[in-house]
Amino acid sequence: MPVFAPEKLICPITFLLLLTIQRSQAVLNDHYYDETCPQAEKIILDTVRNASMHDPKVPARILRMFFHDCFIRGCDASLLLDSTPENKAEKDGPPNISVRSFYVIDHAKAKLEMACPHTVSCADIIAVAARDVVTMSGGPYWNVLKGRKDGRVSKAAETINLPAPSFNVSQLIQSFSKRGLGVKDLVALSGGHTLGFSHCSSFEARLRNFSKVHDTDPSMNVDFGQNLKKKCPKPNKDRNAGEFLDSTSSTFDNNYYKQLMVGKGVLGSDQSLFGDYRTRWIVESFARDQGLFFREFVASMLKLGNVGVIENGEVRLKCRVLN
Ligand code: HEM
Repeated sequence: MPVFAPEKLICPITFLLLLTIQRSQAVLNDHYYDETCPQAEKIILDTVRNASMHDPKVPARILRMFFHDCFIRGCDASLLLDSTPENKAEKDGPPNISVRSFYVIDHAKAKLEMACPHTVSCADIIAVAARDVVTMSGGPYWNVLKGRKDGRVSKAAETINLPAPSFNVSQLIQSFSKRGLGVKDLVALSGGHTLGFSHCSSFEARLRNFSKVHDTDPSMNVDFGQNLKKKCPKPNKDRNAGEFLDSTSSTFDNNYYKQLMVGKGVLGSDQSLFGDYRTRWIVESFARDQGLFFREFVASMLKLGNVGVIENGEVRLKCRVLN
């Protein structure tokens, strides 16, 4: 009876390497801190809630932080590390300059270190905080899987691999599929733009000299385009100018998809989801059924939270610096 022996088919070193790679992918678990830090989620929730009360921009910023962290080197808090004289970190890469409110994670971490020292990873803090900001903005609740470890590498140059607002649907699909996320995940997670704000620089290419034949992006509602032009005049002295990504930008709802259906998506990447047959039907179904959007958003956030998680990292003592 022939026995399947993969180690005989491939050289032993490659086999060992494959085993190591497999082992270093952590298995996350809902009850990870039940014994070691049962109060962890309450500490994070209290911190995030308190910060959001003082600054209503916090929820959107934390949700985006989770996405940007997970898309570069997986959900390993590499985004939280500060640059050093020897290393320019992810945080200082161009797409992350507008990611703010890192202090909220620092506050949660400081309290967690008092309550249960050296136990809760920074990567898990972001994942729990991202769920909390969605729920406190009117969106769904879900059990966050935990057990991520913090990475030891963070490079600004790698942020080039984040999807850009100028991407078309093929580019977006490709970017998501590299992280094991499908077309449905792309459309559901883009629904994160139900919260928050965009600076003019992220969408002004759509407003003037768009192409040889169109001055403004033809997929944009004409009145909406006029309004965006007023918000982003040329020249523009106000570096903080921009527009909310959704007209109900502090509420987590399905209004973002309804806006896409009438040409009122702010970013080119958002609007493109309604312009392509592969994603349009999903936009339409989320616009019709908020419950469906919430369920799919949760499923996709769980998948996003699993991207590249490691178990051979560390639990940082401070999220901004390596131990
Ligand atoms: C699909 C590809 C995506 C692209 C191209 C993209 C791009 C952008 C851009 C350009 C901004 C505005 C930045 C600025 O000008 O300040 C932004 C904001 C934001 N993004 Fe995304 N994003 C994408 C996916 C996501 C995902 C998956 C999430 C979360 C699940 C997310 C959450 C957010 C949030 C909440 C904001 C508002 C941030 C704030 O108000 O400070 N984005 N995104």
